[in-house]
Amino acid sequence: MPKDATANSRQQRRLGRLYETGITRATVLIHEENRANFEVIRPLLRDPRFAESLSRAARLVAEEGPVNVAQVAQLSPFRYPGGKTWLVPEIRNWLRSRSKKPAIFAEPFAGGAIASLTVAAEGLAEHVYMTELDEDVSAVWQTIFSEPDWLSNKIKNFDVTHENVLHVITKKTTSIKEKAFQTIVRNRTQRGGILAPGAGLVKKGENGKGLKSRWYPETLAKRIEAIHSLRHKITFTKADGFDLISRFSKEPRAAFFIDPPYTAGGKSAGKRLYRLNDINHCNLFEQAKKVAGEILMTYDDSEEVRKLAAKHLMKIEEIPMKNTHHALIRELVITKP
Ligand SMILES: C[S@@+](CC[C@H](N)C(=O)[O-])C[C@H]1O[C@@H](n2cnc3c(N)ncnc32)[C@H](O)[C@@H]1O
Repeated sequence: MPKDATANSRQQRRLGRLYETGITRATVLIHEENRANFEVIRPLLRDPRFAESLSRAARLVAEEGPVNVAQVAQLSPFRYPGGKTWLVPEIRNWLRSRSKKPAIFAEPFAGGAIASLTVAAEGLAEHVYMTELDEDVSAVWQTIFSEPDWLSNKIKNFDVTHENVLHVITKKTTSIKEKAFQTIVRNRTQRGGILAPGAGLVKKGENGKGLKSRWYPETLAKRIEAIHSLRHKITFTKADGFDLISRFSKEPRAAFFIDPPYTAGGKSAGKRLYRLNDINHCNLFEQAKKVAGEILMTYDDSEEVRKLAAKHLMKIEEIPMKNTHHALIRELVITKP
């Protein structure tokens, strides 16, 4: 007997056995715990007039659910200097420890935005707001949310040669989407993913693969698609992070994740890594202290930051981590007590 016919007859026998126990193709199996809820919607299921509302409810449930969570650790299209992938477990715990899910998750200095993407993908807050002021970084977020296919196709069709890379990254353009593509190319071919002026191109790269060593077009396209699918949960604005904090400062159900460029106490990392690095750290602490909601700030360890935190009666926790050169450094996580 052909394989398909064997499978068919086995299936028929299985269905026959189930039929004998009273289970037919029209039977709906419901877990005991869901029985009460099911009884509520049972009459609606029989009535075709409710088909549209039920489909809408199903869509809402699907949107609430996690989106591509498995990919989230690596969901950002950026390799972001000072990126906070390592802090994601802390951020998850912090949000889950609230008695109520935050209505707003706000990330005023978004950069590669791994925190915002994780929160949106895992439904850890009702809505995510992120701002970034750098126009190149912003162009990437704006384009992912408005023209993801254009960006993915540009990436997939790009032939990474020295000549092509130089052509793209030196081009003057005012188009946001062209800027987005240019930024992705720079981020993937410049040393350490640094986008600040003066960053040089990768020379040898991983395994001597040179400029191509961080160029993964299919992966980038998948991330762009996944982020675009979260568009109903994330509002990105090219704006000053201080304005985002002010906007939600009176909202008790807002949670702010604040990761500014590290320039406090004369630290130079922020200046080398980001074009926009001139932050008034005193004002930032002042503003953060006053918000009605929760805050979690991160900083490089420095005397000045410790003093600012103490002055504003904030709680400091030290988190040891390895930097990209595998040196053990301490980062400070600062919260309101
Ligand atoms: C430490 S990085 C953020 C990294 C981010 N947490 C991540 O995981 O990728 C700080 C970011 O703040 C941005 N920035 C600097 N000044 C800003 C401002 N006034 N408003 C908004 N963003 C600003 C910089 O361009 C940089 O991308």
